[in-house]
Amino acid sequence: MNDAIVKRTRSVPAQKIAAFTGEGAYHGSTKPRPQAVRPAPTAPVEEMRPTTLEAYAARGARHIAEFDATFPNRYEVKSILPVPTQDEIQGDGVTFCWCLIDEAIAEAGPLTRRVLEEMTKHLRRDKRFIYIDSKIQWFEQGDVPVDSQHWHVDGSIAVRDERVQALGHRLLHDMRARLDGAAPPPTYLAYQSSTHCATQFATAPLSVRMPELIPNFDELDLRVRALDPACEPQPASSIVAFDGLSLHRAVAARSAGWRLWIRCSETDHEVRLNPSIVECYGTVFRRAAE
Ligand SMILES: [Fe+2]
Repeated sequence: MNDAIVKRTRSVPAQKIAAFTGEGAYHGSTKPRPQAVRPAPTAPVEEMRPTTLEAYAARGARHIAEFDATFPNRYEVKSILPVPTQDEIQGDGVTFCWCLIDEAIAEAGPLTRRVLEEMTKHLRRDKRFIYIDSKIQWFEQGDVPVDSQHWHVDGSIAVRDERVQALGHRLLHDMRARLDGAAPPPTYLAYQSSTHCATQFATAPLSVRMPELIPNFDELDLRVRALDPACEPQPASSIVAFDGLSLHRAVAARSAGWRLWIRCSETDHEVRLNPSIVECYGTVFRRAAE
């Protein structure tokens, strides 16, 4: 059995729903993880090397400094496909969680396969792995596709180890290593089917003073929001390109409906799938009635 491939029929009553807390950190949660999770490899690839944290550990630093980060916010619409019908989305049948692209194309439903085939035209093919994640979700108005609406970047250099604990945290994202590091960040293509729940992307370079290491995206979100960056919603049924330095955030659904979301990640980092990620993948998050 391949945990990366989820085949099932979709229905509104079967849509998994959880209370929105705002605490979730997108695809890699900042919440405590079950013990079954494998530890990170001891020697990360250059793309994921926490060089700032390494320097802190080497000199025994206990205070996290700030730096002037400039997010280039490379975001580009690569392709716009016909908007699928709600029945096409609901009936597409197969979703993926860190599935290698060739396997995903072989197993995909017709709509997803068309998107993946279009995505292959825009791949850079300069990293070791090409993974596909996808979700078919039913939103009621106000539902959020993930448990956070913070400005963030994907594929951050997240570390959970004794060097992080020495700084008083359980998890730290090494933002300085991602921003100033020598290795190019991971790159992404993303598709979303609909107008009713479009991810918002920053569209111009943005400089923001921020801690070099952050335990979550709360503080960065506050600072980015204060700067009110130029941004745009991802067009319906478009494929956009971005990278690990591209600020974006989830938006609540403006109306009810099905949405297909697909992300293609090109990375040197090998992802070891944790079945508990698959279990909660595709959950939608709902605010308590006021
Ligand atoms: Fe994201």
